[in-house]
Amino acid sequence: MARDSTDYPSLSVPTRDPGELEKILLQLAEEIDELQRQKEKLGQELELEKALLWSILNNIPEGIILLDDQGRIVIMNRRAEVMLQYTIQEVLGKPVNTALASKKNPRLVVQKVIKRPWVREAMVMRKDGSEIPLRVKLWSVLDEDGKETTKVVCLEDLTRSHELTQHSMRNERLSSLGELSMGIAHEIRNPLAGMRITAQALEEEVGSNPLAREYVSRIISEIDRLNELLKSFFSFAKPQKPALVPCRLEELVREVIFILEGELRERGVEVEMHFPAEVPQLMLDTGQMKQVLFNLVINAMQAMAHGGTLRIGISSNTEARPPEVILSVADTGKGINPEHRSKIFDPFFTTKAKGLGLGLSISHRIVQAHGGRMSFQSEVGKGTTFHVHLPVKKDEGGPPPQEGEENRGEHLASNGL
Ligand SMILES: Nc1ncnc2c1ncn2[C@@H]1O[C@H](COP(=O)(O)OP(=O)(O)OP(=O)(O)O)[C@@H](O)[C@H]1O
Ligand SMILES: [Mg+2]
Repeated sequence: MARDSTDYPSLSVPTRDPGELEKILLQLAEEIDELQRQKEKLGQELELEKALLWSILNNIPEGIILLDDQGRIVIMNRRAEVMLQYTIQEVLGKPVNTALASKKNPRLVVQKVIKRPWVREAMVMRKDGSEIPLRVKLWSVLDEDGKETTKVVCLEDLTRSHELTQHSMRNERLSSLGELSMGIAHEIRNPLAGMRITAQALEEEVGSNPLAREYVSRIISEIDRLNELLKSFFSFAKPQKPALVPCRLEELVREVIFILEGELRERGVEVEMHFPAEVPQLMLDTGQMKQVLFNLVINAMQAMAHGGTLRIGISSNTEARPPEVILSVADTGKGINPEHRSKIFDPFFTTKAKGLGLGLSISHRIVQAHGGRMSFQSEVGKGTTFHVHLPVKKDEGGPPPQEGEENRGEHLASNGL
């Protein structure tokens, strides 16, 4: 854009021609305009770069805080704001320990100039007083003369890795508990076999004395019960790979109910079975799947101390990937207390005086080995329904989709021995 030359102070440029002077002035004005344009462009570029830097800073997974040479906060990225619950406006220009302190060490960050990065793990206090485990890394940025220009504080959230450590410590404890029980179970088995043989011999000796016979038969049945418990231990500690064969789930249910019929009737439990006309054929280990059914039905029966209704249903979910068959075992029993719900699949968790707390953990393990999952709903005083989801075809594309809140299978998967 040309300007009127009178806008500019006159220059004492030696010239022969006044027209030439005007030309020079015009040229100068254009150059100034050009410089102005370049300045605006540079300003825009600077803004863009600043925006880019902020977006990088705000999108890195670590919290970043920059300090001036006095240790005051000049920049804090979004991640750090979320971790510490302070906004940059609240801590701008304040000493770093305003935002970054721990109960044990209120002056967590060192103030001196440091040549090498300084790292510390600490429980850092957030604005609301809660604590967050962080790895705090700190280093000084020096200028050419070795003078500190800024300090960078990098914060890494250790919540997840803390959880994992606790989880794996728990698994280790459970695993050594499993080994211990295996050892004890082995030791108990042999004397038990001896006791059973002796009791049988005694049975023959006592002849026709009815009371003595009754006592001996009780001893034998208690020994058999102990043996059953030991078997549960073994199948828990050394799970077998399922031997899959084509199988009709409803037939397995009928077999299990047939065996438990007498006991169910005695306890005043009515059984209802709802099977659709066509249940897809499944690939199952029949022995293992019967064990699951036994565990679920016995649990249901035990939950209905004063009788009730046991409903066993089978349905298909063709929308699921892969399509699945859902077996449900519902009782009208006492229900599961909310505080127990996250634990019922844990090995050795029981609320029963004579329970081992292995039924559900073994069942869950078996169902998982079939590519399936378990879930449940429960209402205290009304009853509980367990669902066993089994894939119709062996899943080849990884694990089946994850289920909702009520699923405890996931929970168990990370806790199992
Ligand atoms: N249908 C149910 N109704 C109410 N509570 C249940 C039901 N099924 C399971 N539970 C709860 O879950 C706990 C764990 O069940 P699990 O079958 O694993 O062990 P258990 O029945 O106690 O002992 P066992 O090893 O003899 O099966 C039970 O002690 C009980 O508190
Ligand atoms: Mg049980």
